[in-house]
This record gives sequence, C-alpha cells and structure tokens, in this order.
Amino acid sequence: MRNMHPVTGFALSIALLGTSFTSVLAAEPTIRELAKERGRYIGTILNSEWFNDDIEPEFEEIHKTQFNVVVAENEMKFDATEPSENEFNFAKGDKMVEYAKANKIRVRGHALAWHSQVAGWVSSNYAGQKEKLLAVLKNHIEKVVGHYKGQVAEWDVVNEAVNDEYNAGWRSTNSVWYEGIGAEFLDSAFVWAHAADPDAELCYNDYSLEWGLREGSKASFVVEQVKRWKQNNIPITCVGTQTHIEIAHETTPQNVRALAKALNELGVVLNITELDIGFPKGSAGQLTAADYAKQGHLYRQFMDVFLEEPNMGEFVIWGLTDAHSWLDEQQGKTEGLLYDKQYKPKPAYDSIMVSLKEHPAADVVSPYGDVEIVDPIDSTGTDSTDVGDTTQVLKRAGLAGSFSMHVSGHTLFIAGTQSAKVDVFDLQGRPVFRGKCEKGSVELSDISEGLYVVRMRSGSASLTKRIAIK
Ligand code: G3I
Repeated sequence: MRNMHPVTGFALSIALLGTSFTSVLAAEPTIRELAKERGRYIGTILNSEWFNDDIEPEFEEIHKTQFNVVVAENEMKFDATEPSENEFNFAKGDKMVEYAKANKIRVRGHALAWHSQVAGWVSSNYAGQKEKLLAVLKNHIEKVVGHYKGQVAEWDVVNEAVNDEYNAGWRSTNSVWYEGIGAEFLDSAFVWAHAADPDAELCYNDYSLEWGLREGSKASFVVEQVKRWKQNNIPITCVGTQTHIEIAHETTPQNVRALAKALNELGVVLNITELDIGFPKGSAGQLTAADYAKQGHLYRQFMDVFLEEPNMGEFVIWGLTDAHSWLDEQQGKTEGLLYDKQYKPKPAYDSIMVSLKEHPAADVVSPYGDVEIVDPIDSTGTDSTDVGDTTQVLKRAGLAGSFSMHVSGHTLFIAGTQSAKVDVFDLQGRPVFRGKCEKGSVELSDISEGLYVVRMRSGSASLTKRIAIK
C-alpha cells in the first residue's frame, strides 16, 4: 500500500486481523467508529470507477474501514436505472447495496426526480405531455424505490429543483419535469416514494443552500417549501445541502447551522450530502501546508456544526480521494477531499477526527436514535463499540421499533400509533418517567433538561431513541 498515513494504515491492518484486536483499535478509532458512537453517519460516494472495477485497491479498503454511509456517484440516477422506457437496470445499484450490506454501511439513494441525467427517451417521447410525464415519473419511482425497499435508508426524492436566480423560485427551464408537469411533480414524487417504501427517509436535495437564509435565497425558499409540505402532509423528512464550496467560503459552516436550526423548527433533518472544499485549479502544485490547514479548519467547522445540531444525521463527502473527483473533471477546482491522490489522509482528515473526539457521544443527539450498525470488524455480529449507555442495553434486548417519535420542548410526539407505553431513562439507565402516551403525545414536564433514552411499546412493536429535553 503506497504512502499510507500511519494511523489509517494501522487501523486497516488491525481491521483485517479480526476481532481480538478491537481493544487495541479503540485507541486509534476510525471515523465510522466515532460516528457510530454518536448516532451519526459519515460517508462518501462510491465513484463510478469503483462500479467499473477500475480503481486502486486502497479505495475500497479505506472506504469500508472509515465510513458508515454510502451513495452512488451516478449509478442510481434516472439514466442509469431506466435507460429505456420501463426497462430497468439495477445491476450497479445492486452491487453497491450488496457491498453496503456486507460492510454494514447505510445506503442513500441519489436521485429520483432531477432535471439532469434523465434518460433521453423521456424528452424525445413525452416533452410537454403532463399526464404521460406524471405516469413516467410515478412508474420510475415505484419501480426503483420498490426494488430497494428496506435496503436504501434514504432517498434524494427531488434534486436541484430551485433556480439559480437571486430571487429563488422553481427551476422553470431545462427541466423536463417542471416544464411538462409544473411544481406538482415535486409533491407527487414524495407521495409516490413514501408509498413505495414507507420506512425510507425522504429528502429534498440542492446546492447553494450554504449561502444563508437572506430574503430571496435558495435556502429560505426551500425552508418555505418545507413548511408548505409539512402543512400539507407531504412526506418529506429531510433536506440535503450538497455544499460544494471553495476554500474562500468561510461563512458557509455557520450558514448551514442557521439552516439546520430553521429546519429543526419544522421537525425536519438536515444532511450534508455532497461536501467538497476545493482549491482553484490553478493553484495545483503550489499549495502550502497553511493552505491544507485552512481546508482542514473548514472541514472541522462543518463537522462541529454537524455534531452540535440535533437534527443533523448524515455528513457525506462527494469523493474519497483527490485522484477521483468531479472537481478536476468538471469544475475548475482541485484537491477538495479528505485523501490526496496517493490515498494519504490530509489535514482535513485529522481535523474531522479532532472534532469528533471533542464532541463526546453523550453530548451528541442522534435524530435516528441509536445507529443500528454493527461494525464490520466484529464478525460475531455483536456490537464491538459499546457506548455504555441505556440505548445499547435496550438495543441488545431486541427492542427495535416500527413507529416513530420526536420531542419538542417537553412534549413527546408519536406517529404510527395513537397509544403506547412510555419509559424514559437517564443515560445511566435509571428510570425517570413511566406512563402512557394517548392521542399521539405525552407531556414530560417533570423531567429536567438533558439527554435521555425513551422506550415506547405498542402491542408487539417497540422503539428506543435518545432524546434531548430542552
Ligand atoms: O456514462 C458516460 C460514459 O458512457 C462515457 O464513456 C463517459 C465519457 O465522458 O461519460 C459518462 O458519463 C459521465 C458520467 O458522469 C459518468 O461517469 C458524464 O459525462 C458526466 O457528465 C457525469 O458527471 C457526473 C455529474 O454529476 C453529472 O451531472 C459526475 O460524475 C458526478 O460526480 C456529478 O454528481 C453531481 C450530483 O449527482 C448532484 N449534485 C452535483 C454533483 C456534482 O456535479
């Protein structure tokens, strides 16, 4: 393995040696181990070169050791999955799902309704024909989401539907969906995706959302749409901020924080879905240690925001190594990722680790409750990174849930059942509340501010989740 960073090389060798070394590994954790303890997902794409078996072996070794969420760079897009009308090709997507299953990695699906990378037959056959286009999009979503039901945890249901103008509105040109159907294609896409897999998280995903919530911005337009969708019971659960930025964009982490807070008010998760922090292409070969440190500082600020905001769940980087990145190919930018062209971790990698270590698991709230991922280094299938709190104890007792809950202030809301038994524990496992939740909510007014674990049971279904009372 050439020029491997000592920490990564060490972790990889240990990972390959097996379970008896897990206590040693705990001294030098991987990103995914720290993410898992915090109930969060950190990951990167599988590049198209991986799907074509045209990539260095270091790529996969690092990918599965360091990350616990994955996205296909191009292989789940419309033109890849339905190249001819109603003829679906799931071969590459299936390859990724098998890889993810084998390595206990969460899968994001990208993307269902997008104006770009739509198969040519859609426009050629149906441009401007509303009823036909609705039928095409419905069939596509039903077949793709249906095929991956229970295997893809989250979908970018609609991608990049907002225009690039200062006064943001829907993208009204060069979009076969908007031009033929109108804005209702978005609402319909969410409804069809939810019907095909009611358990999947469903996101609206876009770029330039990191530019702040000023009037007329994309971010504030999206927040207004999310408000409308929630009011109309459109089943959106998350927003994705792609976050393709440059080294000079120093205000963007705090803008993402503001967006997370605005979406939290609406009960919606914010995920960072395509982060890269590029240098201008002309600077290649002249970059200094200070430049890489600056890049690391920005990565760290994003990770700080991610870990500190309770409604952020996934942190996905658009590539692993600078050797394979759309930045060089299409953007006039370069070197935006965590690993250099020789697969050596950059200061950006170290800065992410520092941020993770400085945010202890007990302080990080997970929007998903506990992350149900078993680390791949433990072949017995038991959890090798015990965080030592009640969540783990309840999880081992097999208490997996089928309904959902969230907390707002001191009120616990449940969905999927009207009535449930509720137990609340502190993080040492001591019961602090026991009662019944009727009519969809229960007041936890006697519980002081802090982190707790809630267990809810209804019939044979149960759900445990870490919550924050504020
Ligand atoms: O499939 C053809 C192949 O047959 C041909 O030989 C080859 C020659 O260039 O091109 C291949 O298609 C390319 C495709 O990637 C697969 O490699 C396209 O030309 C190329 O345009 C396409 O680029 C992708 C781009 O999306 C297209 O919009 C990038 O790899 C991919 O990283 C990028 O990802 C997007 C996200 O989906 C949405 N957000 C922005 C992000 C970056 O643009």
